[in-house]
Amino acid sequence: MAQVFHRTKLGKYYLGDTNKLLDGELGKKLRKKVQLILTSPPFPLNNKKSYGNLQGKEYKEWFIGLSEVFSELLTPNGSIVIELGNAWEPKRPIQSLLPLESLLGFVQNRRAGLHLCQEFVCYNPSRLPSPVEWVNIKRIRVTDSFTHVWWMSKNDYPKADNSRVLRPYSSSMKMLLKRQSYNAGKRPSEHAIGEKSFLKKHKGSIMHNLIELEQIDEQRELRLPKNVFSISHTQSNDFFLARCRKKSIAPHPARMPIELASFFIEMLTEPGDIVLDPFGGSNTTGFCAEKSQRKWISIDTNSDYAQQSVIRFQNPLLTHNKL
Ligand SMILES: C[S@@+](CC[C@H](N)C(=O)[O-])C[C@H]1O[C@@H](n2cnc3c(N)ncnc32)[C@H](O)[C@@H]1O
Repeated sequence: MAQVFHRTKLGKYYLGDTNKLLDGELGKKLRKKVQLILTSPPFPLNNKKSYGNLQGKEYKEWFIGLSEVFSELLTPNGSIVIELGNAWEPKRPIQSLLPLESLLGFVQNRRAGLHLCQEFVCYNPSRLPSPVEWVNIKRIRVTDSFTHVWWMSKNDYPKADNSRVLRPYSSSMKMLLKRQSYNAGKRPSEHAIGEKSFLKKHKGSIMHNLIELEQIDEQRELRLPKNVFSISHTQSNDFFLARCRKKSIAPHPARMPIELASFFIEMLTEPGDIVLDPFGGSNTTGFCAEKSQRKWISIDTNSDYAQQSVIRFQNPLLTHNKL
């Protein structure tokens, strides 16, 4: 029987190997019930980090095989969102094609029947320069600052609502809405802009598939959905990191950005839906799901990560549901 390491009002963290657990009782229980699988799997790293990972062809085969296992768990209109960073060839200043080949193989695996709904890029300038040899020492490559995020589903119309993750309007759009006039007509891009297309005030503007955790251009305001990128999120991160520091715990080295998890949970699920993270680590996914009143299941093999994940749920902001 699978071992529950930690449970909350809405979720359970299982300690164990995802392949084994999803192949057993837990997998049977979750069949066709999961609305969103949101995860950043172990990377095909060339030098081992503090969590185990396969390499090369072995990694790719293992990763592609997961698509069938995951697809079985989805509700008919469920989604899979996978965040995967770049990797490099050992001892060479060239990028490995393995992450992209793995993602392609995953979505093209016929037995899983998945489609790519949309690709996202998550830009995170706080990532440390790597590989150090080529970026910092020899200075022949630049800092790798983004991850690929692929949103997939079995159905062309998975549950999704972009109006749940609206960005605040830009200053120019606010002015236009106030002025109630603009240049309608055909644009050089061939888009035909109607007389009234932009005059109706909605609750904000539609999010882009470039998720900027910090702005690229300092002159430009960073407009991100308030419900997923609010101050409380920074506070959540601060709480987790401060507690880890106090207890001399090394925080997970490859945590998913809270904003990324929150964004997909809000857009692709509703309260009461089940969100699964099969490689849960410090349980960013479970935390964001609980905050948004979604049920969650997380799995990880590493008991240190399971242990530190408990800290996330001690956040008083979450207990008082003020996030
Ligand atoms: C990139 S990390 C996930 C980090 C997580 N999203 C977070 O925010 O903390 C990948 C995780 O997969 C776990 N892992 C690796 N192989 C696994 C397996 N076979 N079953 C379950 N977990 C595994 C590692 O221990 C690691 O914590």
